[in-house]
Amino acid sequence: MSPFTNVADLAAQDVLWKVRADPRRADVEMSNRAGVLPYFVPVGSALGREVVVDGAPRLMFGSNNYLGLADDERVLDAARVAIDRYGAGCTGSRLMNGTLELHLELEAELASWMRRDAALVFTAGYLANLATISTLCGPGDIVVGDARNHASIEDGVKLSGARSVTVRHNDLDQLEQKLRRLDGPTLVVWDSVFSMDGDAVDVDRLVEISRRAGARTLIDEAHSLGVLGPDGGGVSAAVDPTPDLVMGTFSKSLASCGGVIAGDRDVIEYLRFHARPLVFTASAVPAAVATTLAAVRIARTEPWRAQRARTTANALANGLSNAGYQVTGAAAAIVGVRVSDEWAATLAWRALMDAGIYVNVGVYPAVPRGNAILRLSTTAAHTDADIEQCVATFARVVRL
Ligand SMILES: Cc1ncc(COP(=O)(O)O)c(C=O)c1O
Repeated sequence: MSPFTNVADLAAQDVLWKVRADPRRADVEMSNRAGVLPYFVPVGSALGREVVVDGAPRLMFGSNNYLGLADDERVLDAARVAIDRYGAGCTGSRLMNGTLELHLELEAELASWMRRDAALVFTAGYLANLATISTLCGPGDIVVGDARNHASIEDGVKLSGARSVTVRHNDLDQLEQKLRRLDGPTLVVWDSVFSMDGDAVDVDRLVEISRRAGARTLIDEAHSLGVLGPDGGGVSAAVDPTPDLVMGTFSKSLASCGGVIAGDRDVIEYLRFHARPLVFTASAVPAAVATTLAAVRIARTEPWRAQRARTTANALANGLSNAGYQVTGAAAAIVGVRVSDEWAATLAWRALMDAGIYVNVGVYPAVPRGNAILRLSTTAAHTDADIEQCVATFARVVRL
């Protein structure tokens, strides 16, 4: 190889060259050596209001366990019973041998909770978005979405081959203008609550604008299902007319893993047979499905959990804001603290972890460049004292 070969030439010859030339690699290695890498942190305990990291307890403000159900005995029992009855895994896709009675029971429960005709359960929330967008849209169609929509939505659009149109974050006036100018079958896709900043869109207005323009709607309720809406059934459950399709995940309020799309029965049946990310992947394991079902039933009958997750989020947001931090969100159970500089966010993360508080760090591409954020979330299990301790620890160790 000539010493003068440039990177572009090497990249043109070998798909693995990008691994060696990865600009993030040096950062990651250096951060790891310095003990300030905030990703892939191994947790050594069940997920409660406290978790064990490096052998020490930390108050958990970095999970999506909004309803505090991840270590609930009734949910754990449901998993044990499902393993005894159905075994460890399904060893096949929903289409072939991987649909248990349990999947159908869960689909019926979710459809009723989300107030839709029918629901379809996927192995991950990511797959639910990927499948729905890539199956219903294709070349010649248009997908319009918020600039900060979740990656699974962006990836679904890429896979579909549809034209992608991006709207400024939560700017429904711009959505209206863009829809007026577009010509072709259109799907509008939006997160109801944004995963990093924790702010929300006005779903009522979004659906109204979209319908007036003749566009269909898909609302991602990953962070609102369980926390917002009637009995926690999501924001869309209270919107009239409803969005055409509503997506939810089981990996947050529902303390499990998997995803759902709910909507009119004919659309759900179409997805059941045509969605490749459903048909060509193994179905969720029995324990995950049973856990989700138990969690939905508890969420519906114990509305205090959603209320408590929201109250603690508000208390945390107020406390941090009063302490002088630039706070975002609290529309559901997510609270963001703006840091801007990625290194400052990372150092704040380390200081908080050392002081017994677990939070997450959001950097590009999870947030736009220059918008690093400390992402916190509350659960129904947090006590008032936990919130006070979190705020006091911030004030003591985080200088921004
Ligand atoms: C808004 C949003 N949509 C979809 C997903 C994907 O869900 P899952 O992690 O359950 O696959 C997430 C998860 O982070 C999310 O935040």
